[in-house]
Amino acid sequence: MEHARGGFGLIVLACNIATDKYETRPNNMLDSFHKVGRLEALIDECHQHGAKVCVQISPGCGRMGYSDPNTPPYAASAVPSCWFPDLICKPFSIEQIHDLIKKIGYTASLAKTAGADAVEFQGYGGYLIDQFMTSLWNNRIDEYGGSLENRMRFPLEMIKEVRNTCGNRFPIIFKFTVTHEIPEGRSMQEGLEVAKILEKAGVDALHVDHGSHEQYYYQITTVYNHDASKIHLCEMVKKEVAIPVFCDGKLGDPEIAEKALQEGKTDFVALGKQAIADPEWPKKVKSGRYGEIRRCIYCNECHLGMHQGKYLMCAVNPYCGHEKDYFLTATDNPKNLLVIGGGPGGMECAIDAAERGHDVELWEQRPLLGGNLTAAAAPRFKKDVGKYLDYMIGKLKRSNVRVRLSKPAEAEEIIAYDADMVVLAVGAKPFFPPIPSIKGDNVKIAYNVLVGIESVGERIAVIGGGLVGCETALMLNAKGKDVTIIEMMGKLFPGEALNRNNEQMLKRLLSESSIKIYLGTQLYRVKKGGCIINCQGTEEELLCDDIVLACGFKSDDSLETQLIDKVRELKTIGDCVSPRKVYTAVHEGFHAARLL
Ligand SMILES: Cc1cc2nc3c(=O)[nH]c(=O)nc-3n(C[C@H](O)[C@H](O)[C@H](O)COP(=O)(O)OP(=O)(O)OC[C@H]3O[C@@H](n4cnc5c(N)ncnc54)[C@H](O)[C@@H]3O)c2cc1C
Ligand SMILES: Cc1cc2nc3c(=O)[nH]c(=O)nc-3n(C[C@H](O)[C@H](O)[C@H](O)COP(=O)(O)O)c2cc1C
Ligand code: SF4
Repeated sequence: MEHARGGFGLIVLACNIATDKYETRPNNMLDSFHKVGRLEALIDECHQHGAKVCVQISPGCGRMGYSDPNTPPYAASAVPSCWFPDLICKPFSIEQIHDLIKKIGYTASLAKTAGADAVEFQGYGGYLIDQFMTSLWNNRIDEYGGSLENRMRFPLEMIKEVRNTCGNRFPIIFKFTVTHEIPEGRSMQEGLEVAKILEKAGVDALHVDHGSHEQYYYQITTVYNHDASKIHLCEMVKKEVAIPVFCDGKLGDPEIAEKALQEGKTDFVALGKQAIADPEWPKKVKSGRYGEIRRCIYCNECHLGMHQGKYLMCAVNPYCGHEKDYFLTATDNPKNLLVIGGGPGGMECAIDAAERGHDVELWEQRPLLGGNLTAAAAPRFKKDVGKYLDYMIGKLKRSNVRVRLSKPAEAEEIIAYDADMVVLAVGAKPFFPPIPSIKGDNVKIAYNVLVGIESVGERIAVIGGGLVGCETALMLNAKGKDVTIIEMMGKLFPGEALNRNNEQMLKRLLSESSIKIYLGTQLYRVKKGGCIINCQGTEEELLCDDIVLACGFKSDDSLETQLIDKVRELKTIGDCVSPRKVYTAVHEGFHAARLL
């Protein structure tokens, strides 16, 4: 609903399956007349705001079904399940295929009855329809397998059935993958052929996609993808067909979206994650308020949450999933609030509290705002984080918050300030492993190196193969440095909950670089001109000019301890509670202000 209010022209409701007869999964299902009423209420409300609504429909996930490890999913053919490759899928019988076709027609008719303006087939990304369409996942020898004509039979019969149940004038959009980017997946050439077949079959518009679960970052974009990541494919498809084409994939920058339209590379700009981060994107763009767009940082917390079965959530938009629960109401009891720390947690808290009418002052020890986000945004490949940071700093400037930079807070001064409430958002401190000479001149902290406070030589050992270590290594390697990552555990990103696509893309960037990675290797000692490492039981000397520490963070509660019982109310938020993510810092900042 927020998207309709925010000015989106067409809202595609996330995938609805036609039946759970062949798979159980945590998706929406539109299979019964009883569900029409609720859907109609939603569509009606969207219509009142002038938005059109399209319902995405699907016969299921097939081999990508979120089954348990013991139950083989149904699929086009007996191929390994995506999530549990030891499970070999059960191929649908011809009768079951016909049953699915009937059911999808009924689902589309329910959407139409509820007032939907269109349906979109989930024919992309290796889901069930795409499995039928792709020889890699379809080795049937009946009329639904083999030639492209046979593999297209399942989607084409479904399109025909939707025409039967909904009529010729009801718009059908088909989202399909032009190329999967995996060996034996769909080639570009076949993808363009598929576009022409779908047009001939009478679909009204195409929605272009890219990649598959095996190369997930093409499909669900990450912070490391470049902008307009699918536009080249859309442009190629547009040359083959006369029907309108939709394109998504990092089109959240208004100038880039406008350029794609002006250059005729797409007919419609579709926003995925940027729409989650800021449902008011269209209104803000229309009125030229680009700087006020809450920028998506393409962290995929939303996607990670969805895979964990949680409600839709967003790192930077605390309202997401709680639009009807959370409000910032004007206060009738203005309080005097002192926020310590100008990272994302402190900024969010200060902005929101001021918006409610509280009197807010923020102290930041550094001469600049941003906290650890400044380092997160430093590499060129993380510019999306920088855009979010710019948005937050701009919003803080437009607010009534008094910001004092280069103002390190000490307990006595905080107590003397006599605030009604003190919010500690001081973040966490870098962790130094307890080994000899760890504070030597040739040891630098990742934050300082990323933001350019400390320079490094040509040969670098980065200690820690987590997100911070890997990104620091990539940034230094891109500057021509000879970099080695030393990671104590047997794998990269140990203990970090990264979404699959972000992790895949980061690993790809590492594999394309000249960075050397030592896993199961411990830093033993720092010495002049290098360090001693223990590589799976063997001590070795690693010659390097500098050692960059990215060994994680440790929260420091010393300020909190000094303030307990000395200030009227005390709240700690973000990484100073425990080192975590943007998501937790922003959400805890928001709730501290909301519940004040
Ligand atoms: C290189 C790097 C990359 C990262 N990438 C990601 C990512 O992709 N996604 C993600 O979710 N998270 C990422 N993180 C983690 C994320 O940046 C942090 O979780 C987040 O910044 C925590 O926010 P915060 O406001 O709690 O603390 P911080 O951002 O640490 O801010 C705390 C602020 O308090 C100030 N301060 C401290 N003590 C005092 C004092 N006594 N007086 C005044 N000011 C004080 C500090 O100077 C600092 O500005 C990354 C971190 C790093 C270092
Ligand atoms: C949390 C989440 C849920 C999604 N669910 C669907 C879905 O149900 N159907 C669909 O076609 N695409 C879905 N997508 C993919 C997006 O539609 C889009 O193709 C992708 O995110 C790339 O576009 P973007 O860079 O604008 O985010 C989802 C994406 C995310 C992040
Ligand atoms: S969770 Fe991250 S990727 Fe998803 S919409 Fe929010 S900022 Fe964007």
